[in-house]
Amino acid sequence: MLPLRIGLCGLGTVGRGTLEVLRRNAGMLAQRCGRELEVVQIGARSARPEADLGAIPFTHDIFAIAANPAVDVLVELIGGVEPARELVLTAIANGKQVVTANKALIAGCGDELFAAARARGVTLAYEAAVAGGIPIIKALREGLAANRIRWLAGIINGTSNFILSEMRDKGREFADVLVEAQLLGYAEADPTLDVEGIDAAHKLVILAALAFGMPLRLDAVHIEGITRIQPEDVRYAGDLGYRIKHLGIARRNDRGIELRVHPALVPERSLVAQVHGALNAVMVRGDAVGGTLYCGPGAGAEPTASAVIADILDIARRLNGGGRDAMHPLGFDLAEDGALPVLAIDDAETAHYLRVSALDRPGVLSQLAQILSARGISIEAIIQKEPVPGQDHVPLILLTNRTREREVRAAIAAIEQLESVAGPVVHLRKEALDEV
Ligand SMILES: NC(=O)c1ccc[n+]([C@@H]2O[C@H](COP(=O)([O-])OP(=O)(O)OC[C@H]3O[C@@H](n4cnc5c(N)ncnc54)[C@H](OP(=O)(O)O)[C@@H]3O)[C@@H](O)[C@H]2O)c1
Repeated sequence: MLPLRIGLCGLGTVGRGTLEVLRRNAGMLAQRCGRELEVVQIGARSARPEADLGAIPFTHDIFAIAANPAVDVLVELIGGVEPARELVLTAIANGKQVVTANKALIAGCGDELFAAARARGVTLAYEAAVAGGIPIIKALREGLAANRIRWLAGIINGTSNFILSEMRDKGREFADVLVEAQLLGYAEADPTLDVEGIDAAHKLVILAALAFGMPLRLDAVHIEGITRIQPEDVRYAGDLGYRIKHLGIARRNDRGIELRVHPALVPERSLVAQVHGALNAVMVRGDAVGGTLYCGPGAGAEPTASAVIADILDIARRLNGGGRDAMHPLGFDLAEDGALPVLAIDDAETAHYLRVSALDRPGVLSQLAQILSARGISIEAIIQKEPVPGQDHVPLILLTNRTREREVRAAIAAIEQLESVAGPVVHLRKEALDEV
């Protein structure tokens, strides 16, 4: 059997990791897929002096790789939307199989790209685009294929998880930990995509598309980042037996599909609460299997290369068999669940954490209770913290039971009108992560 010929576009963190693992494990990989994997061309904006390319031809023109008749598989590791989109479309038009690690590209343009791949009869694979080294795409497509997925929830941005872990363990401020995350190379020089929740939203829509057979609805995700999390809320959540995690959640209910990315309180004893630092984790609950959890490194050169190369091996095996991609990554004929509407955040149902700064005097608690009960919101727990010396307001922490978001927002607006309450109410959501 002839070698599978790979054209590698992008020689940054993931490109170099992929080259290294392809070389190190060459013999074993060839055994696993029945043919050698040969990198026949590499392209990037600038050749990296430290990267040892050996005899592999290098080009600054990545489109030359998409046009190279000697390339079977184009591996797109340049990142961003353009020119990655154009590059992938050109490769597909030229009949090449494509592997990408690019979540922004798949989440933003996936419907167009998958349609082009299907029309041309080639595969567009993207295991590395979600949760780095964790094989969550394969888990959803293959291992859990028998299940109707009820919900999935993930810690899918390692930078945000690292920052929240540090805030909790060391009582540090958000801005202070962010600087350290940048120094450690976890966060980009411009960390907006990470800390504002956009990167997690890219990954969530890909997971939801697979789980529910729905289109990629980046426009419909409710997105909140971690920038407004304060150390005292991390502490109070801990006092109540919870940790604050940044989650991407896709949940099907009777009315539609919730797609949301935001910080949330999770029970301290839950498995997801134990996922610290730059790790990622995804929980998936299916009707047959029950609850499952996938955890591991969500980024890094070789963990991401692990996912990129798994896709290359799949393609090699499929081509060996001479077949078309029988199991296309995203369903084009919408699945039953995929035709459901995506719900507005007001219609999401979850429990809530409220921190109210109130005057320390009789009657305030009953005013709060009246406002909440008038909207059908029941209280699971309430605690009053010690007043800060010299201040006449005390923090009151309320945990509600599961409630429609619109009711909670209306209650917050009413609470903020009370003369005994100072400043805005701090509002976080609370996820049990064990409900069906
Ligand atoms: N890093 C991770 O841990 C990780 C994890 C999961 C997924 N991913 C995804 O993997 C992809 C690559 O990430 P990375 O961290 O490896 O990025 P990176 O370190 O910034 O490397 C990007 C590479 O692509 C080249 N490049 C960028 N734009 C180009 C263009 N227009 N033409 C030619 N070459 C271009 C860059 O060349 P120059 O350096 O010369 O500009 C560099 O070699 C992204 O989609 C990212 O989201 C990364």
